[in-house]
Amino acid sequence: MQQSSELFFASSNEHKFEEAQRILSNFGISVSLFKTTLEEIQSNSMCEIAKRKAIDAYSKKQKPVIIEDDGLFINSLEGFPGPYSSYVYDTIGNKGIIRLLENTKLRDAKFVAIIAYYNGVDDVKLFESSIPGKISSIIEQGGWGYDPIFIPDGESKTYANMFDKDKFSHRSVALTKFSNWFLDKQKDNGQ
Ligand code: IMP
Repeated sequence: MQQSSELFFASSNEHKFEEAQRILSNFGISVSLFKTTLEEIQSNSMCEIAKRKAIDAYSKKQKPVIIEDDGLFINSLEGFPGPYSSYVYDTIGNKGIIRLLENTKLRDAKFVAIIAYYNGVDDVKLFESSIPGKISSIIEQGGWGYDPIFIPDGESKTYANMFDKDKFSHRSVALTKFSNWFLDKQKDNGQ
């Protein structure tokens, strides 16, 4: 099968795509949105979830795709919501998370991102990041998803109020790893 440099970001989340597009453009990589809802298997392994999402995305688009799977892991809740972050956000949301942590000062957490690339030929390639941080005591204004409650280590504000979220985010670290690998691969293929 012929290799193509055309690349799609498969997601139903336009916020995610906008950030990914901005980050990838810093590496000279252009990406288009393939707006779709992907199969999300129930698993404790984010890598397994990401792999299956990438294979599902490729089978629908028939072009090289990247997908992203994220999870917010809260230490004092034994890593909850972790792989179930999307469902938990849609059900109890940020208010519910803040309520679960009401009586504790232990607010350490991490935001994990897995980028999975699949071109239908080689094995699915995974790129992972993990950003340590804390859950805020109040829900800040702005941002999207868990932005208003996640403060990366070394910062005083949540993602929602950082003007340079892209520099520090779980998304940006995983996409930087992907970009370095992808550009090398293109060089090797003479593209
Ligand atoms: P998923 O990969 O879409 O399943 O992400 C899990 C959950 O984390 C979803 O509710 C996303 O909205 C949320 N999420 C992922 N990345 C971010 C982010 O950068 N900011 C805020 N929420 C995020």
